[in-house]
Amino acid sequence: MPEKTPAPVRKAVIPVAGLGTRFLPATKATPKEMLPVVDKPAIQYVVEEAVAAGLSDVLMVTGRNKRPLEDHFDRVDGLESALKDKGDDAKLAAVQYASDLADIHYVRQGDPLGLGHAVLKGHQHVGHEPFAVLLGDDLIDESNPVLPRMIEVQERTGGCVVALMEVPHDTINLYGCAAVEQTGEDGVVRITGLVEKPDPADAPSNLAIIGRYVLAPEIFDVLRSTPPGRGNEIQLTDALETLAADPQSAGVYGVVLEGDRYDTGDKISYLKAVVQLAGRREDLAEELHTWLREYVAALDAPQVGGDAAR
Ligand code: G1P
Repeated sequence: MPEKTPAPVRKAVIPVAGLGTRFLPATKATPKEMLPVVDKPAIQYVVEEAVAAGLSDVLMVTGRNKRPLEDHFDRVDGLESALKDKGDDAKLAAVQYASDLADIHYVRQGDPLGLGHAVLKGHQHVGHEPFAVLLGDDLIDESNPVLPRMIEVQERTGGCVVALMEVPHDTINLYGCAAVEQTGEDGVVRITGLVEKPDPADAPSNLAIIGRYVLAPEIFDVLRSTPPGRGNEIQLTDALETLAADPQSAGVYGVVLEGDRYDTGDKISYLKAVVQLAGRREDLAEELHTWLREYVAALDAPQVGGDAAR
């Protein structure tokens, strides 16, 4: 890999303008990013992940009806004084934690022209620096994060870096898909081609892009000249494909995710994410697992009439 003078990655861009139609009617008046995963909105996990990787300057690219996101990361005087009066220090700390977490900025996407367009909206805030992009539907297990390694690879190569995960072949049409070659470094591959949501028959691999990117600022120029692609949207995957195919660029790399990833993007995956993340919580795990065992045993038991599992 070519060595470059490292410019530190300091900023994270989080696109949150999506309509969340898969969760209607829950998302009619509530942004999908605010749906609770156990007792925190999904977006808070993502901001916590960025901050844990040293990126406390966060830009959210928002759209209509996203005010609750701004409110969540803002102070709420009335609530804080009520909790103080009640002496509920734990809840007070949880409420203040969300508002002190990061230095969060907001920009509106305007027209919903795709992920590439949303990232381009971050140009003015990001400037000519490498930066991370985190998509809210993917939650990454905090005990095994992928961003620090991605940042390290970006700073070393000066290129763009995506997180990759092997998925079942018949689901690759839900993701950006990467053709790769080995670099000799464990867990890091060089990307030779990318295609957004390919038909499984045409997919170059089973390696899916999951929603974490660390991008060189050159991506902005490429995005500006990237025509609408799949779904008539400006695709970040297409801009990365342009860089991967350009021998003059610093290249596109993939870091293969080792830890768990939870998908909150569709209903079944969301339910699994809630159960799995609750199962990792000290205050909930024991009771939840006991109930889950009983529930599954009742599901497996021969039915004698009525609901076996309630
Ligand atoms: C986006 C990207 C896709 C990536 C996916 C990861 O798609 O376009 O390349 O694999 O996120 O979650 P979306 O799921 O927003 O349609």
